Amino acid sequence: MQTVNIRVFDTPHDAGIYVAALAEQVIQSRPDPVLGLATGSTPIPFYDALVGLHRCGLDLSSVTTINLDEYIGLPPTHEQSYAYFMHRHLFSRTNIRPENIHIPNGMADDLVAECARYDDVIRQHPIHLQILGIGVNGHIGFNEPDDLLLSKTHVVELRPETVRSNARFFERIEDVPRRAITMGVQAILQADQIVLMAFGPEKADIIARSVLGEVRTDVPASILQLHKRVTVVLDRASAQGLFDESGRLREK
Ligand code: GLP
Repeated sequence: MQTVNIRVFDTPHDAGIYVAALAEQVIQSRPDPVLGLATGSTPIPFYDALVGLHRCGLDLSSVTTINLDEYIGLPPTHEQSYAYFMHRHLFSRTNIRPENIHIPNGMADDLVAECARYDDVIRQHPIHLQILGIGVNGHIGFNEPDDLLLSKTHVVELRPETVRSNARFFERIEDVPRRAITMGVQAILQADQIVLMAFGPEKADIIARSVLGEVRTDVPASILQLHKRVTVVLDRASAQGLFDESGRLREK
């Protein structure tokens, strides 16, 4: 974020429309657009708005999608798998072609081979626009805070705070998978353009640390400061820590 590009909206709904318009620009400006996509509650208003644009005439048949991550051990038919989430919120509601959809396979017998396969997919389809949410601990995709961040697609043990936070989507905390496959930080940083979305007061602190704090591996989203084209899309609650009383962006 060498040039910090921050947009603060009144509602997640308004923010979603803005991000969908950014996606439309990318989709219309090239024959083979590649969108890097995220799950979680945050991007849902964006998916709704993109579906809305599709219903108004935006053709998505040339779009390739590459999802960030998937839980290990959940089949695509499981309601909490990210494959199921994406079909429900986007794929089943648009004309994105099934053969253009890429999501890590969390049911693969050989997870190492699956990670290598996914890196090949990313190599063949460099990402033009990467959509990101952020975990309460600063994770992007499932790149968790650690002593080092891995560049390639890898298997990750989820941190206890991530399991707790994602338990809201499961009946019992014991049902939350403890492992996931995630794209590494290299693929994220190689995207032409990145949009980081966050809503709600519980994201205010981690957004301030990610945007204004030091670049640190224990705040994975802070590495986005190294990218030259990032837009941070917030609502007022998640933006609280970024501005002083007079509404000016705080110093780094
Ligand atoms: C999961 C996903 C992340 C997402 C995060 C935040 O952990 N792997 O990609 O950013 O949830 O979720 P939410 O948007 O629901 O706060």
